[in-house]
Amino acid sequence: MKREIILTKDGSPTIYLPDLNEHYHSTHGAIQEAKHVFILNGLNEFINQEKITIIEIGFGSGLNALLTAISCIESKKGTIHYTGIEAFPLTEHEQSKMNYAELLSFPPSIEIQKKIKQSPWNEDHEIHSRFELIKIKSKIEEIDLPSDHFDIVFYDAFGPSAQASMWTIELFAKLFNSLKENGLFVTYCAKGQVKRDLKAVGFSIESRPGPPGKREMTLAWKRF
Ligand SMILES: C[S@@+](CC[C@H](N)C(=O)[O-])C[C@H]1O[C@@H](n2cnc3c(N)ncnc32)[C@H](O)[C@@H]1O
Repeated sequence: MKREIILTKDGSPTIYLPDLNEHYHSTHGAIQEAKHVFILNGLNEFINQEKITIIEIGFGSGLNALLTAISCIESKKGTIHYTGIEAFPLTEHEQSKMNYAELLSFPPSIEIQKKIKQSPWNEDHEIHSRFELIKIKSKIEEIDLPSDHFDIVFYDAFGPSAQASMWTIELFAKLFNSLKENGLFVTYCAKGQVKRDLKAVGFSIESRPGPPGKREMTLAWKRF
């Protein structure tokens, strides 16, 4: 599928898929959206926990992993194990254009982004003494996930109208099962049907204000 690199309104790049008319991030700002959805309303719910396990569906450019690693290092406590699932990895050329580290005012991010990029597929890799990453090259539908294992699911798939197969009850049930009790599934998506389907598999739904350009986003908690 054809992929084009474009600049979003906060000056950070993203990828556009003309065939689906879909972007990897909000055109209002890729970094701005990622920070709002996955860091402020995702990671920060767990930031005082000593060990956090995260799985991201749709690893793409690795922006969410980079921001997570930076937050972990800046917080000066705790460790994170991060699993990134990606079916169609970016090419070397595309990766080289995703200059997020240069746009972040945190000098170590250059080295961290480089290590994330170079980290081999399907192997655990230490990015920082407190941040470990495994990138798994696979479709999420095709892998088995451990039960009661993750604290957070970062759900960053293309939207339901572009890729309905990523927003099924079966997938949500698989991710619910992979979360620990009190675990969190967080996504930029606020579609009513998605929230109803998440609820149907057992999640407690919380809607919060979305990033600029989006009224709402969704947190789904595994609470009994
Ligand atoms: C919205 S983009 C993710 C953006 C990414 N998180 C980032 O910050 O660059 C959706 C991602 O899901 C990936 N994807 C599509 N189908 C998938 C599948 N079945 N399993 C896993 N990943 C998939 C795409 O290749 C793309 O990288």
